[in-house]
Amino acid sequence: MASLKVLIAASEVVGFAKTGGLADVAGSLPRALAARGHQVAVVMPYYRGVRHLKDPPVNTGVVIPVPVGNRTLACRLFRSTLPKSEVPIFFVEAPDYFDRDDAREGKGLYQQTMPGGYKADYPDNAERFTFFSRAVLEAIPALGFVPDIVHANDWQTGLVPVYLAEVYRSRPGYGQMRSVYTIHNIAYQGNFGADVMGLTGLPGWLFNSTQLEFHGRLNFLKAGVVFADAVNTVSPTYSREITTYEYGCGMEGLLQQVQGKLSGIVNGVDYGVWDPAVDPHIPANYDAGTVFEQKPKSKAELLTRFNLPVEMDKPVLGVVARLVVQKGIDLILSAAPGFLDLGCKLIFLGEGDPEYHNELEQFQRRHPDKVGLYLGFDETLAHLIEAGSDLFLMPSRYEPSGLNQLYSLKYGTPPVVRATGGLADTIVNADEENLAAKTGTGFAFNDYTAGALYDTVKWATTLYRDRPEDFRQVVRTAMRQDWSWGRSAGEYEALYRRILG
Ligand code: ADP
Ligand code: GLC
Repeated sequence: MASLKVLIAASEVVGFAKTGGLADVAGSLPRALAARGHQVAVVMPYYRGVRHLKDPPVNTGVVIPVPVGNRTLACRLFRSTLPKSEVPIFFVEAPDYFDRDDAREGKGLYQQTMPGGYKADYPDNAERFTFFSRAVLEAIPALGFVPDIVHANDWQTGLVPVYLAEVYRSRPGYGQMRSVYTIHNIAYQGNFGADVMGLTGLPGWLFNSTQLEFHGRLNFLKAGVVFADAVNTVSPTYSREITTYEYGCGMEGLLQQVQGKLSGIVNGVDYGVWDPAVDPHIPANYDAGTVFEQKPKSKAELLTRFNLPVEMDKPVLGVVARLVVQKGIDLILSAAPGFLDLGCKLIFLGEGDPEYHNELEQFQRRHPDKVGLYLGFDETLAHLIEAGSDLFLMPSRYEPSGLNQLYSLKYGTPPVVRATGGLADTIVNADEENLAAKTGTGFAFNDYTAGALYDTVKWATTLYRDRPEDFRQVVRTAMRQDWSWGRSAGEYEALYRRILG
């Protein structure tokens, strides 16, 4: 079959800028597609952090015109390649919009820390990502190929399918292009005042309740869903959940209407980065054959790193997460004293809402010999926690796909998850039945309660202590699972082909 030409647009890409799993996907899906023989390019904003990389992108010499409101910016395009690949990634320069992120000043990609400690969205986010979405279409002539598919992700690029359908498709070269829109998280919608319509340059009549308008506001996510030729989320279960009131964040009605073009594709893992057999960030590499000899070295290093006594018989529960409502941090905090009574140690890596920062700090201060805490973003440490923990906690309130549970499988660190979204689609609960069938890969519960989480951790630690052969079998089964991108990239390819007809 003929190979495809694909342009992927994202607001973050691992290796250049990252706040969460979107960056991992935007960095690895393109490489997996390229490995299948397709021609792929990625485009993202030229953030300050990218500008200051050790290996900064190079200036292409190309300048593109990007209309925003009543002016047109002339923007330089920079170019690099995705880590360990030949896949080109282009960066759109616009210093007013994107030259501001700086961790020391509390300035992130989308938010800044305010004097009170809380995080606030940048007031010009609508303008920044209206600009970027438009720039994606304007950058196409500079790519060196004409894409069949323009693939946008999350609210930041929600206007891309609209611009393609309403402004660019009638232009020479753009006529055959089709758009895919992936929802990585429906809770973040980019819901802005109606005045933003003026900035978009889109015809005012599109601002109606079946197209761009959502309760009197301009909603970027809705725009993407309505105008894309295909819409997908990052797991089959989440694609069904978001059509319900409980999970839809107000979009459930619309998503029911567009069910015919809505599907779910679970994320894959980049095993070039997340595999204990090759991971440079852990003290001793291991695979399923050597896990029980080598993994304890990571555990010892992890405990030492957090100044915790190196008591190897005590189970370590690891958490790596954005500290936000989604991740079930409140359940963990409620159940945590119980975990300590079970003899567990807890290690947290994350950043997010200041209330969680405070509560975790207080909890850590009360139990300095049992709890480790690092508030911040540290990719190296994330690897050590995956490798050094005995169990990984991910009791999410909702989880579109989730990558950390997949990393945990590979690192032989059975995840404890709430069976929602991608967690339900990827983890097989090690209850008695699945233990007997040797199919369990982790521990799952349904009710969003601290009690259910506690009971599940209690069961897991009972196996860990009293039935070590059963626990080891879960570890081995987990490590054998293959969630590499190959399968997911195949599903994206099928989706692309479907809309190209
Ligand atoms: P989400 O995208 O909702 O945050 P995922 O499980 O899909 O959840 O992906 C999270 C990604 O972000 C993982 O690669 C994880 O290791 C990383 N991550 C999250 N918080 C941190 C942190 N504080 N430090 C380092 N990596 C983090
Ligand atoms: C979102 C979701 C997460 C998913 C990631 C990448 O951040 O919260 O579940 O894995 O996007 O798709």
